[in-house]
Amino acid sequence: MTKIEAFRPAAMPVGAREAPPCAFVAFGAPGDLTRRKLMPALYNLTLPGLLPERFAAVGVGRRAWSDEAFRGEMERAVGEFSRTDGVDPEVWHGFAAKLAFVEGDFEAPATYSSLARKLDALDRDGALGGNRLFYLATPPSEFPVILQRLKAEGLIQPPGGEAWTRVIVEKPFGRDLESARALNALLAHVLDESQTFRIDHYLGKETVQNILVFRFANSMFEPLWNRKYVDHVEITAAETVGVGTRGRFYEETGVLRDIVQNHLLEVLALTAMEPPTTGGAEDIRGEKLKVLHALRVPWDDTIPRDVALGQYRGYRDEPGVARDSVTPTFAALRVFVDNWRWQGVPFYLRAGKRLAKRVTEVALHMQTIPLCLFGRQDVCERTEPNVLTLRIQPDEGIQLQFASKIPGHDLAVGSVLMDMKYTEAFGGEPPEAYERLLLDAMRGDATLFSRRDAVEASWTWITPVLDYFQRNPPQGFPDYEPGSWGPESCDDLVRRDRRTWRTL
Ligand SMILES: NC(=O)c1ccc[n+]([C@@H]2O[C@H](COP(=O)([O-])OP(=O)(O)OC[C@H]3O[C@@H](n4cnc5c(N)ncnc54)[C@H](OP(=O)(O)O)[C@@H]3O)[C@@H](O)[C@H]2O)c1
Repeated sequence: MTKIEAFRPAAMPVGAREAPPCAFVAFGAPGDLTRRKLMPALYNLTLPGLLPERFAAVGVGRRAWSDEAFRGEMERAVGEFSRTDGVDPEVWHGFAAKLAFVEGDFEAPATYSSLARKLDALDRDGALGGNRLFYLATPPSEFPVILQRLKAEGLIQPPGGEAWTRVIVEKPFGRDLESARALNALLAHVLDESQTFRIDHYLGKETVQNILVFRFANSMFEPLWNRKYVDHVEITAAETVGVGTRGRFYEETGVLRDIVQNHLLEVLALTAMEPPTTGGAEDIRGEKLKVLHALRVPWDDTIPRDVALGQYRGYRDEPGVARDSVTPTFAALRVFVDNWRWQGVPFYLRAGKRLAKRVTEVALHMQTIPLCLFGRQDVCERTEPNVLTLRIQPDEGIQLQFASKIPGHDLAVGSVLMDMKYTEAFGGEPPEAYERLLLDAMRGDATLFSRRDAVEASWTWITPVLDYFQRNPPQGFPDYEPGSWGPESCDDLVRRDRRTWRTL
């Protein structure tokens, strides 16, 4: 098989569409997200020519920065955080000319009139087509005032006109069902849903997108992708790091809100969804929504059996963490998708910090063979079921485990792996999630962004679990050693079903 050539082309990749002219406006541009992710992503999009020639990126924040000072700050940020080696002076020169800064507090109406003047100047003679992409890279508490003032200043055009306005909102999308609904109502008051782009960078990862491609661009796997052949599914998102300096934030969040409600349910929905009618955003998002609606509702009498929480030893000593904190840093859940395809197949989810290995993956464990044909029970007992693993990060790739005869004069069976690694197959690191997502938002493709109904469906499902543990705080925390695979209760959860977690 020919190896597919390098990922980082000098020219625009085949089939890629350039974004239309537009102004990109980052509220909170002096902050961490803009420096570490957004600016490096925009810079990297210029390299293969994916950013439009007629483009401007405007930062808004409370710094007394001139345009020139902003460019210097962003050059340092790109130099430090871009996945590419250093900043190419020639490319940077062209890119920097498109950067501008507006100083101001988000609460002050004057900030928005300055911004309007700046945008008018940049859009002189229709250079940017009147198109605007606002990015709220700010704490969620700032969303209401920014949206209301943008609207009041006439900076948000309704959909359907020649020029478009879109707004990218950063997660968290609420902290429970009620607050998610309130945020959605606020967004709906100012924007049409078609203008609202809720970003979860997880969905921009190549390997997450590849779940769909793997399933629907290969005819041989789809017939097996159901309760007839799949015994159970494991979805793991394990980190080796602790909360570090984010203790205060994490205390308010915990693993259920930080990882399970969004990332794990997104991955579960992509894994379990039906084939969409078309590859269009609404069809794909519609099928994912059906999975969320089919999740078996957690009840007070099933939650203690189906959800195991844990906290790593040492968490309570992290800065910003209460000495008697019961915030979980680990969760394992047994989830059922009550539909025709998946009835009775458990989906085991686990996520946590300070675990033995950094790994995110989906593993489909196929059923055991129905009959032992080799005349020797001991051989058949050692035959492990097939496991198909989609590795999301790191070592991105796909593995298939199957049984094979071990060469020799006797009949012996062992498990072997077929292993596809992205870096070997495609010869380079895949692009950063933010690159793809920013480009899609400019092109108006919402496939990889979270829709209002899906956000509310995932909160509807997990809120009873959050409420249960609010009323019944976990006992015995901290309960797992850093560098382990979580608390004993995690193993119990699968042991009850006569299963074990995959060794990673
Ligand atoms: N950082 C990441 O990698 C990451 C990843 C995923 C999601 N997010 C989300 O992205 C958002 C931004 O995160 P971040 O890490 O960039 O936060 P951050 O570093 O705290 O940046 C927020 C920015 O907003 C500015 N700001 C806040 N209130 C303001 C006001 N009233 N007027 C003017 N400026 C104001 C801050 O200004 P000052 O600097 O002057 O305080 C700061 O520049 C958050 O919702 C976060 O949850 C971040």
